[in-house]
Amino acid sequence: MNKQLRKAVIAGNWKMNKTPSETTALINEIKPLVQDADCDVVVCVPYVDLQAALEATKGSNIKVGAENCHWEKSGAYTGEISTGMLREMGVDYVIIGHSERRTYFGETDATVQKRVRAALDAGMTVILCVGETLEQREQGITNEVVGIQTKIALGGVSKEELSRIIIAYEPVWAIGTGRTATSEQANEVNHAIRMIIADLYDSAAADAFVVQYGGSMNAGNAAELLAQPDVDGGLIGGASLKAPDFAEIVKAASK
Ligand code: PGA
Repeated sequence: MNKQLRKAVIAGNWKMNKTPSETTALINEIKPLVQDADCDVVVCVPYVDLQAALEATKGSNIKVGAENCHWEKSGAYTGEISTGMLREMGVDYVIIGHSERRTYFGETDATVQKRVRAALDAGMTVILCVGETLEQREQGITNEVVGIQTKIALGGVSKEELSRIIIAYEPVWAIGTGRTATSEQANEVNHAIRMIIADLYDSAAADAFVVQYGGSMNAGNAAELLAQPDVDGGLIGGASLKAPDFAEIVKAASK
């Protein structure tokens, strides 16, 4: 499996942080620090910050993403946002199936699949999150859990569409806990995900497919994680809210 075939993607997941004016300020801080990046750089921000993020990133190498989207085009879904709304704004990326959505907001593999379908149909690029809980890891069923999440989410996705999907392997026990997976653990599951892609599509598709790691990735541990053969980038929560830390991770991915 040839890592050279893949361009790393470093994506920030701001979660429920930053107001529009704080968004402008943080992006203005990040911009000069990542302008020479040799990887793709994305910031995924709350819906109300998207406009500010799009304006602040104009003319830069930073792409903007949302943190979720609904599967219907419009209708009686109070509080939801459609892909058409995001596209009209100029938003190209969207995180789908984050474990916080699954844990706190009743997201299931079935709704994740519908959201992936809607985002692809709208021409967006999806950052699809999968990952096991601590209990599942201790039961020895990590690869099964991640495999089922991946296979259901990719149901109906064509080989051509696969180039607009990134998978972020995020062990739930490592998110926001300061407890990172070891680089070996991260690589092992990322590799297993790549094998699923080879199985569902073919080995060329698997070779080209970007699999990120996420879960307490920071300026201190990014280089080691990103040096692993199957870790093609990161989805960064906490550390993406500090410009120097985020820039350090981008630098580690650019090597
Ligand atoms: P964290 O979050 O980096 O703060 O652990 C990662 C994520 O939830 O995407």
